Amino acid sequence: MNRLVVRVRAVGGPDVLEVEEDAAPLPGPGEVQLTQTAIGLNFLDTYQRSGLYPMPLPFVPGSEGAGVVSAIGAGVDETLLGRRVAYAGVLGAYASVRTLPAERVVPLPDGLSDLLAAAMMLKGMTAEYLVRRLHVVHPGEVVVVHAAAGGVGQLLCQWASHLGATVIGVVGSEAKAAIARRCGAQHVVVTPGQSLVDEVKRLTGGRGVDVVYDSVGKATLDASLDALKARGLLVSFGQSSGMPAPLSLAALGGARSLFVTRPSLHAYVHTRAELEASASALFDVVTRGVVTVAEPTRFSLRDVAAAHRALEGRQTTGSVVLVPSA
Ligand SMILES: NC(=O)c1ccc[n+]([C@@H]2O[C@H](COP(=O)([O-])OP(=O)(O)OC[C@H]3O[C@@H](n4cnc5c(N)ncnc54)[C@H](OP(=O)(O)O)[C@@H]3O)[C@@H](O)[C@H]2O)c1
Repeated sequence: MNRLVVRVRAVGGPDVLEVEEDAAPLPGPGEVQLTQTAIGLNFLDTYQRSGLYPMPLPFVPGSEGAGVVSAIGAGVDETLLGRRVAYAGVLGAYASVRTLPAERVVPLPDGLSDLLAAAMMLKGMTAEYLVRRLHVVHPGEVVVVHAAAGGVGQLLCQWASHLGATVIGVVGSEAKAAIARRCGAQHVVVTPGQSLVDEVKRLTGGRGVDVVYDSVGKATLDASLDALKARGLLVSFGQSSGMPAPLSLAALGGARSLFVTRPSLHAYVHTRAELEASASALFDVVTRGVVTVAEPTRFSLRDVAAAHRALEGRQTTGSVVLVPSA
């Protein structure tokens, strides 16, 4: 059986994504073969493609997908065969058929489509650990969410707001501001027209916010630190505008005594138990309608370069999903 697959042989812009056909791999011991119906696109994929995150070459990009288990290797639970599953954080997703360790897949609830699963597994489990484990969001806290209309941002705004936080969303346009408000952001700062620090001071009576979730990095990190209250927490979890400059420890000290963390999903769903708990918390809020996953923007897997251009060009809202069959 042949498959469609995307490879990167040299790092660079979206044009380095080569779409080709080869033989579908068979699962080894402990692995499943997954016939994928939907593949989640993540900003991480662009860091790996561009060389910002160094990768061994060549490689098949992508870390998230959903589909049906089409074969199993030795030692794998036979009831997985034919089941709909999804995964996040396992490189090699840009393919119509792939293999991966059985312990990294999660069976999907009946009411959840493959498309929505691929749109939310990585981004939703990220939102889960950001509001429930890295920091437990409490009612009455004020938090800032950068890129609030984006893939992670929409889920993060809804979940933090559900936990009782006042959410200040930061977005790049008025159209995105409306989306952030629909996702529970009580206040929205549109940059570059408005100043995040001035708005935070105005909204908090000069106090500053409890937590800033900053996925934009280089362009926003200084303002994020300045927006924090004394003993506030900066969560630097991405760099869609580029890698932030190194932080001086001295800049965090003194009267404000700030906390900074630089987390990755990998560290928060490392064990099978952590993965199952995170996925199950996510499925719970989505099936109860507490968190709504917006219909994702779809691209054919063959048009993967166009999908990367749209994501990096700030043209997307919510999640982007690559469809192998389209
Ligand atoms: N550490 C983790 O565990 C983890 C896990 C998942 C994702 N992430 C990070 O979370 C972030 C969001 O990922 P996503 O896939 O959901 O993407 P996304 O937020 O849907 O897209 C990125 C958004 O960043 C904003 N942005 C601001 N400046 C930008 C610039 N110069 N270039 C491009 N975008 C810019 C844009 O929104 P505006 O136009 O509204 O500014 C853009 O739409 C990424 O930084 C990703 O690396 C981290």
